[in-house]
Amino acid sequence: MSINAVIFDLDGVIVSTDDCHYRAWKMMADEEGIEFNREINERLRGVSRMESLAIILVKSEKEYSSEEQVELATRKNNYYVDLIKELSPADILPGVMDILTELKARGIKIAIGSSSRNSPAILKNIGLGGYFDAEADGNHIQNSKPDPEVFLLAAERVGVSPVECLVVEDADAGVEAGLAGGMPVLGVGAASVNPTATLQADDLSKITVDQML
Ligand code: BG6
Ligand code: MG
Repeated sequence: MSINAVIFDLDGVIVSTDDCHYRAWKMMADEEGIEFNREINERLRGVSRMESLAIILVKSEKEYSSEEQVELATRKNNYYVDLIKELSPADILPGVMDILTELKARGIKIAIGSSSRNSPAILKNIGLGGYFDAEADGNHIQNSKPDPEVFLLAAERVGVSPVECLVVEDADAGVEAGLAGGMPVLGVGAASVNPTATLQADDLSKITVDQML
């Protein structure tokens, strides 16, 4: 394969925000008396905010109106926004900076393709605001992963054809999205055991740029 751009998911690939998402959903769920645990949290990986809420509400005995659902998601997001204020460059995952630096040095475009609407704030807090050649995130798309929209938009924004883009993902929904967009996918973290991923690595310290390209 000839790769001219690498599109990185953000949460769980560049930075570990899993615990912040878990704690924010947990606070809201506890207030509402809804059962929520880390196992359910795993199912929210790569899934949009409102779709995540729908998964959580399967355990709820109460029926929530659309307005109430928006309030629950907003409440969770307010908790989450407070928690991510504490993120710093120390929260960047192993191997990430070495890979990004080398890709840049080799003239390979780098982009973000994230479902999160908080992506710009997170990138700023970890010191990577403005670092990528392009960003596509939850603020720019209609259809979230496993739909390929966010990755296709990132490819378009770096001006590289999808088949020449490698997607790096930690969520099964994201692996599916990349493949649906005609892109090879490197599965890391939770997706490192996804058999449909083109390449697999525990994290970005366990793979070289040569192996990725
Ligand atoms: C993804 C996370 O990156 O973003 C999901 O893996 C999250 O857990 C989704 O629900 C949406 O995030 P946000 O910040 O827009 O609520
Ligand atoms: Mg992710």
